[in-house]
Amino acid sequence: MNHDLLEKNAVRLGIFIAIVISLGTVVEILPLMAQARVTQPDPGVRPYDPLRLAGRDVYVREGCYVCHSQMVRPLYAETLRYGAYSTAGESAYDHPFQWGSKRTGPDLARVGGRYSDDWHRVHLLDPRAVVPESNMPAYPWLAERTLDPADVERRMRALAAIGVPYGEADFAGVEAAVRGKTELDALVAYLQGLKAPEGRR
Ligand code: HEC
Repeated sequence: MNHDLLEKNAVRLGIFIAIVISLGTVVEILPLMAQARVTQPDPGVRPYDPLRLAGRDVYVREGCYVCHSQMVRPLYAETLRYGAYSTAGESAYDHPFQWGSKRTGPDLARVGGRYSDDWHRVHLLDPRAVVPESNMPAYPWLAERTLDPADVERRMRALAAIGVPYGEADFAGVEAAVRGKTELDALVAYLQGLKAPEGRR
């Protein structure tokens, strides 16, 4: 092939590069979209209970994903530090998923059970009370805000509309699950539920 045609003309070379990158992208992404394995929940993955769902929404609202990923990569150093690597099926009920990529703080995908509820409470209200060198912000207002069961139920119904298998029995249980709980309770419950699905370590 006559390389001069491409290499001596910046515009032509640019267009050629754009075409090649687009093709590469399509080849990488299209097969994944057709695979059930990456869109179906893994065995043992269940939709969030109402309290954890409310906590997840607090997590999203406060931008925790700006500093924390929730994706353990399949690399030895990662699994050694955090535990089982993440799979797409773990996040099947996450709308939107919280994989992230920025790690100012540690990955949180396996943080559930690593600390006590009390540790999380103190840490979220005043990180430097438990980790003196921490640069994580404090979230004192979470303890003062109470959850609204009607609001949580609406969120569950919205998720049901896009395919998360919540039913009337789940909606009926919301009131008892979140009445009187604070956003801090919800966020701690969410964090404690971040684990590998049963059976994976
Ligand atoms: C500005 C960046 C930043 C933001 C925003 C942030 N964090 Fe952190 N986080 C950190 C850093 C740094 C650490 C490590 C030091 C520490 O433990 O405080 C950390 C640690 C943690 C830990 C302990 C993890 C472990 O394995 O030891 C948890 C849990 C946590 N953060 C939750 C949250 C939650 C929930 C939010 C949102 C409400 C949040 N973080 C927002 C930076 C951040």
